Amino acid sequence: MKKVMLVFGTRPEAIKMCPIIMELRERKTIKAVVCTSGQHRELLGDVLESFGVIPDYLFSAMKKEQSLSTLTCNIIESVTRALETERPDLVLVHGDTSTALCAALSAFYCGIDVGHVEAGLRTYNIKSPYPEEFNRRAISLVAKYHFAPTERSRANLLVEGVDEKGIFVTGNTAIDAMRLTLRDDYINPALEELADYRIIMLTLHRRENIGENMRNVFRALCRIVEEYKDVCVLYPAHPNPKVRRIAEQEFAMRERIHIIEPLVAFDFHNFLARCYMVVTDSGGIQEEAPYLGKPVLVARNTTERPEGIEAGTARLIGCEEEGVYESVKLLLDKREVYFEMAQAKNPYGDGFAASRIVDFISR
Ligand code: UD1
Ligand code: UDP
Repeated sequence: MKKVMLVFGTRPEAIKMCPIIMELRERKTIKAVVCTSGQHRELLGDVLESFGVIPDYLFSAMKKEQSLSTLTCNIIESVTRALETERPDLVLVHGDTSTALCAALSAFYCGIDVGHVEAGLRTYNIKSPYPEEFNRRAISLVAKYHFAPTERSRANLLVEGVDEKGIFVTGNTAIDAMRLTLRDDYINPALEELADYRIIMLTLHRRENIGENMRNVFRALCRIVEEYKDVCVLYPAHPNPKVRRIAEQEFAMRERIHIIEPLVAFDFHNFLARCYMVVTDSGGIQEEAPYLGKPVLVARNTTERPEGIEAGTARLIGCEEEGVYESVKLLLDKREVYFEMAQAKNPYGDGFAASRIVDFISR
């Protein structure tokens, strides 16, 4: 039996790789070996538990406030050991994290084929997102199979000279994950308490936003809740201590701004389904919110997911306080603008991307 090793290490990769693992395990035609780098600790553990996935290799790369270079060395060293032990026929990596880059590079050095899930996303700005834009371009160089979520990501790869025979448009497995987590009858006491408010779901964590950008976004939201008494902000804060310090300073003693621990994917997806709108710099949430008909304001100057902007479900609002404030205010004040965004079409697929990827691998 052929063997595929799936390598990942952070929350978003885990959420988007679990549907593929589950599909492989259900079909039983290919042996799936799961290797986690441990780039994230608590965030990764939560996802694995939610989807009932037990890794075959569980490394522990994470250090508090880790630097990119120590992280990179640790992951290459540990993943290479797993590759040498297993000698899989194919390694699957996801997206643009340090784990994805290091796993692809390790496989390349070991002479093992690489398949890249969520391939072909680009901003063409090497510093934004940092270092993800570099990571995903570098992975494209070593990958043999490119699972592009959309026609646009396929087109990016073709322009860069990737052989069209190695590119497969599949949709994004983020939507597959949501098919597994969303519940019409979901109940949570924290949500019940906020039932009378319009909830702004907030997540911010990107390396290039840590500092003034993040403070600007937080300050804009403080002004919003001050002005709109029927609005509250729910912020499941990333565990990065640098992010938490800023959030605690800017949101100190603010009524109706709730800093909470990261939610497990099952809860987060159902919270998203009940919020009014989203403010985020996350990649994955730009894919998930449109599926739920929730307008997404992207607190960044670039995005590798322009499909959402073109479909009308997302807007790039930058990270200046005034710009963020005005953009949120517009959606709170103008129902026609809100509904135009909420009713736009989700461009990220039908929730069967994992099945298409496994079909291809099986062939
Ligand atoms: C990483 C990815 C980013 C992705 C994000 C998803 C890279 C370079 N960055 O960024 O692309 O969008 O994950 O969340 O691959 N920490 C914990 N516990 C955890 C996770 C993180 O305490 O479970 C803290 C640690 O102090 C760690 C810090 O957060 O050093 C930063 O983690 P890191 O993986 O380096 O960067 P992220 O910002 O999470
Ligand atoms: N997410 C979660 N709990 C949270 C916040 C986010 O499960 O408290 C999920 C979210 O649904 C999405 C993923 O984490 O699937 C996005 O991860 P993140 O924003 O950390 O990374 P990015 O997508 O920007 O790489």
